[in-house]
Amino acid sequence: MSINYQDRIPNNVDLGSNRTLQRALEHWQPEFLKWWQDLGPRDFQVANVYLRTATSVDAKGWATYGFVHMPDYRWGIFLADRDPERRIGFGDNYGQEVWQQIPGEFRAILRRLIVTQGDTEPASVEQQRMLGHTAPSLYDLRNLFQVNVEEGRHLWAMVYLLHAYFGRDGREEAEELLERHSGDANKPRILGTFNEPISDWLSFFMFTYFTDRDGKFQLKSLAESSFDPLARTCSFMLTEEAHHMFVGDTGINRVVRRTLEVMKELGTEDPLAVRNAGAIDLPTVQKYLNFWFSSSLDLFGSETSSNAASYFANGLKGRPDEAQYEDHIAAEQAFTLELPDGNGSTKTEQIPMRNAMNEVTRGSYVRDCELGLKRWNRLIEKAGYSFRLSLPSTRFRRNIGSWAGVPTDLTGRPILPEQFNSTIGEWLPSDSDRAYIMSLMHGVHEQGKMAAWIAPPDRGINNNPVDYEYVKMH
Ligand SMILES: [Fe+2]
Ligand SMILES: [Fe+2]
Repeated sequence: MSINYQDRIPNNVDLGSNRTLQRALEHWQPEFLKWWQDLGPRDFQVANVYLRTATSVDAKGWATYGFVHMPDYRWGIFLADRDPERRIGFGDNYGQEVWQQIPGEFRAILRRLIVTQGDTEPASVEQQRMLGHTAPSLYDLRNLFQVNVEEGRHLWAMVYLLHAYFGRDGREEAEELLERHSGDANKPRILGTFNEPISDWLSFFMFTYFTDRDGKFQLKSLAESSFDPLARTCSFMLTEEAHHMFVGDTGINRVVRRTLEVMKELGTEDPLAVRNAGAIDLPTVQKYLNFWFSSSLDLFGSETSSNAASYFANGLKGRPDEAQYEDHIAAEQAFTLELPDGNGSTKTEQIPMRNAMNEVTRGSYVRDCELGLKRWNRLIEKAGYSFRLSLPSTRFRRNIGSWAGVPTDLTGRPILPEQFNSTIGEWLPSDSDRAYIMSLMHGVHEQGKMAAWIAPPDRGINNNPVDYEYVKMH
């Protein structure tokens, strides 16, 4: 169904035919707009931003571009088209018809899954709300705002499901999604990473590379769900999510490129010399990477999880790209885990495959993360330097799962707590690293200009030049 922009709430779910639902969402809409004004991008609500808006949900030409004041962005409800042939793709009900309504016994679990996903969307907008002031260029400023309005739309996507399928408790959950706030001492966001402040652009690029990629894998798991409306919502969200990861990938690429230029100019790799020249030394890039990668790994949950097993068995949440697996029932297989043995060494343990679904998804995520590192390292190699960026072990600095609180080095080797504490400053951004990065953060809001710590992108947005006026301040 095509997208209807005539309604107050743009949608392709024929909202007009369900007056009760339409009224309930129209009641939530002003609360959303108030939240956007209060906790969305600070001080840029009057700016005119070159943004894309979804116009259809098919692969080609789903977006139109134009100048929009962010509060006027047409947030709406867009689901991928329904496939009437779609069947349950995994678990105990493999091959049966997918559900258009929620079976009563899975109501509470599905609500929890939707609320947890929904909570991350406005959280990231809150985390990023001050970044506009320090954007390295108008191009980057525009990308930030594009990510922000789309995370706002992802909130709409989850709120629609809550309103349409969960009645009164769904409506209450939708209100609470606007009441919890990132970093709030009393009412924090549900997941840890989404309470971490993002106060500089290196962190923003790391977040969009590593944490939005967690989002990609969560959405891919939910896009397999037997609850068809959830699957269709998440399928469309994935097309938007791709841009967020592009921002992170190319952002880090441009930081590395600029650093290499400076190293060439100076004829040295010395981090201090690189900093004195106003660029970001590669060891500092590695530290930020260690921080955000390890933080994002926790979002997948424990290695062994009876919840994950029951989500899989019942067809609620699958494996990303389930079609690539041969056995969609996964009832007989086992998975081997390497766990800490409590004596500074490791032991192996076999667990049922269904209980290992979090770890399976985390593994796919890690392989996807590696692709960017390969590209960035190719730049470094081509420039003639031996430094390489690398992902730390998935055991490093974990707060959730078997490795939570177990001190290890970057390779995942268990070490003594004293050793960990005395070396952590070499592995994660120290106060002085953060102070240095913050010292680079000055907004460059002039058309055609770019901050000195980052290279310009290869191309602009939608075939426009890099130095296009992507954001008009008034
Ligand atoms: Fe999102
Ligand atoms: Fe995102």
